[in-house]
Amino acid sequence: MAPSSSWCSAGFRRSRPFLPFLLLLCVLNGGGTFAQSASRKPNIVFILADDYGWNDIGYHGSVIRTPNMDRLAAEGVKLENYYIQPICTPSRSQLMTGRYQIHFGLQHAIIWPPQPSGLPLDEVTLPQRLKEGGYSTHIVGKWHLGFYKEEYKPTNRGFDTFYGFLTGSENHFSHRNAGGMPGFRPGWSGLDLRDQDRPVTDQNGTYSTHLFASKAIEIIAQQDKNKPMFLYLPFQAVHGPLQAPQKYIDKYSHIKDKNRRVYAAMTTAMDEAVGNITDALKQYGLWDNTVLVFSTDNGGQVKVGGNNWPLRGWKGSLWEGGVRGVGFVNSPLIQSKGRTSDALIHISDWFPTLVGLAGGSTNGTKPLDGHDVWEAISEGKPSPRKELLHNIDPLFRTILYLPPHQWGDDTFNTSMHAAIRVGDWKLLTGYPGNGSWMPPPSSDLICEESDDPPGKHLWLFNIREDPEERTDLSKKYPLIVQDLLEKLAGYEKSMVPPFYPPPDPRANPALHGDVWSPWE
Ligand SMILES: *[C@@H]1O[C@H](CO)[C@@H](O)[C@H](O)[C@H]1NC(C)=O
Ligand SMILES: *[C@@H]1O[C@H](CO)[C@@H](O)[C@H](O)[C@H]1NC(C)=O
Ligand SMILES: *[C@@H]1O[C@H](CO)[C@@H](O)[C@H](O)[C@H]1NC(C)=O
Ligand SMILES: *[C@@H]1O[C@H](CO)[C@@H](O)[C@H](O)[C@H]1NC(C)=O
Ligand SMILES: *[C@@H]1O[C@H](CO)[C@@H](O)[C@H](O)[C@H]1NC(C)=O
Repeated sequence: MAPSSSWCSAGFRRSRPFLPFLLLLCVLNGGGTFAQSASRKPNIVFILADDYGWNDIGYHGSVIRTPNMDRLAAEGVKLENYYIQPICTPSRSQLMTGRYQIHFGLQHAIIWPPQPSGLPLDEVTLPQRLKEGGYSTHIVGKWHLGFYKEEYKPTNRGFDTFYGFLTGSENHFSHRNAGGMPGFRPGWSGLDLRDQDRPVTDQNGTYSTHLFASKAIEIIAQQDKNKPMFLYLPFQAVHGPLQAPQKYIDKYSHIKDKNRRVYAAMTTAMDEAVGNITDALKQYGLWDNTVLVFSTDNGGQVKVGGNNWPLRGWKGSLWEGGVRGVGFVNSPLIQSKGRTSDALIHISDWFPTLVGLAGGSTNGTKPLDGHDVWEAISEGKPSPRKELLHNIDPLFRTILYLPPHQWGDDTFNTSMHAAIRVGDWKLLTGYPGNGSWMPPPSSDLICEESDDPPGKHLWLFNIREDPEERTDLSKKYPLIVQDLLEKLAGYEKSMVPPFYPPPDPRANPALHGDVWSPWE
């Protein structure tokens, strides 16, 4: 089978004329045009929420109040057919590279703190490209793309400045992480908060959302107005541990479920932060030339207060509850504002979209899987994306394995955890994760378990007609199943082996002055 066309370089077509990058202009023209050209490039503010569920934003009918985000989304464009990866590291890796994680070995799980792993150094990152284009580039918040060697840290991957943490989660007040991994719980503990390379020890007690919002506002205030800015703000909110300042929790005393109550508080604090940051962009004169993107990194985790109702499944699964995400864009530069977009858009699309907006080129990157979707967002044109590989994880196989389907294993081994979307069709194979429909806690609804037999390992849904994935059509449409299995097999051929090393005892923060730090 021929590999599917959309992963190869031809899949990315530039829709705007190429503008040489400013560094080049600087060299050729002695820097004379730098400031002038640079000032026309839009500022890009990318806010990434962590573990934020589909049913956790006001405009999806949530009990959680998010007035700032509701307003920004209503004035801008709501992305309602928007997809992310089911867990943290893979989503972030695709955001940074515009490439599917099967193409650089991060298709299995997250990077755990003690693992000597990272986003491979030969991948070109979004901030690298924007920096080449004259942007100042800042990350405030969570990195989670590896740090075992200096080279993997964000300041060596294209960011001028870094204020935040390197691992995947930590205490929101003490900024410490215990940091094991499945099967390895050594009881370590270390601080994980830095300003560039300097450990930050004077913020014990400052809540992460307030800390990162105030740092972001500092950067906005200090931004040189002649230079475009890329501000990447991956909040630790609303990832566990469930913690929030009491005044936000008090707003939700009517929610009986404690997890949901604290999660709602965390979300409202994040919403307030988004409001403060937008105000700062206005106050410091950047807003008129800013594109603000808000996205979650994966579906909500129902075990710690998140919710994706009425979607099936949650964080970590390939069901819609794991991969269909909250996202919106607001910008004075949007041509057709106040819309809901049902264009198929994926987190890997931001790389070509934002590089394109910055007048840059994707030349010199490896073959992109993302598409430039700016015209779909701004003008309501059809999305250039027609298909979407959710993932193929060869290390994750069903334990219970029924006899092969008649269309199955000679094309693609359906014991593998994988899913693909082509048009409205979605095919899932292997064990996609827990496939229950989990209603919001403290509602009258109860969790619905599916009646799939144990060991079932192939489903076909029409997502447009059945976004809740209730009616498996695989027996009814065997030719579509065959077609999608062939597409999966095509992607499998382009895949590199997963990289998932064992923990390294040298990672212990006790060996590095009580701070999570590179150890190699
Ligand atoms: C951080 O603050 C808490 C609460 O005040 C305190 O118990 C803890 O010892 C402090 N941690 C450090 C490392 O100072
Ligand atoms: C937002 O700004 C207000 C006013 O400065 C401040 O009191 C509040 O703590 C800020 N909220 C966050 C989440 O940063
Ligand atoms: C990309 O590189 C190719 C080959 O070097 C060149 O022909 C083309 O003009 C470049 N395109 C852009 C947009 O820079
Ligand atoms: C599919 O993979 C499973 C698990 O690795 C293996 O047991 C099975 O033999 C494979 N099936 C085929 C047809 O290769
Ligand atoms: C799925 O999760 C629900 C809620 O936690 C649980 O009750 C159920 O047993 C799980 N089902 C499977 C098959 O693991």
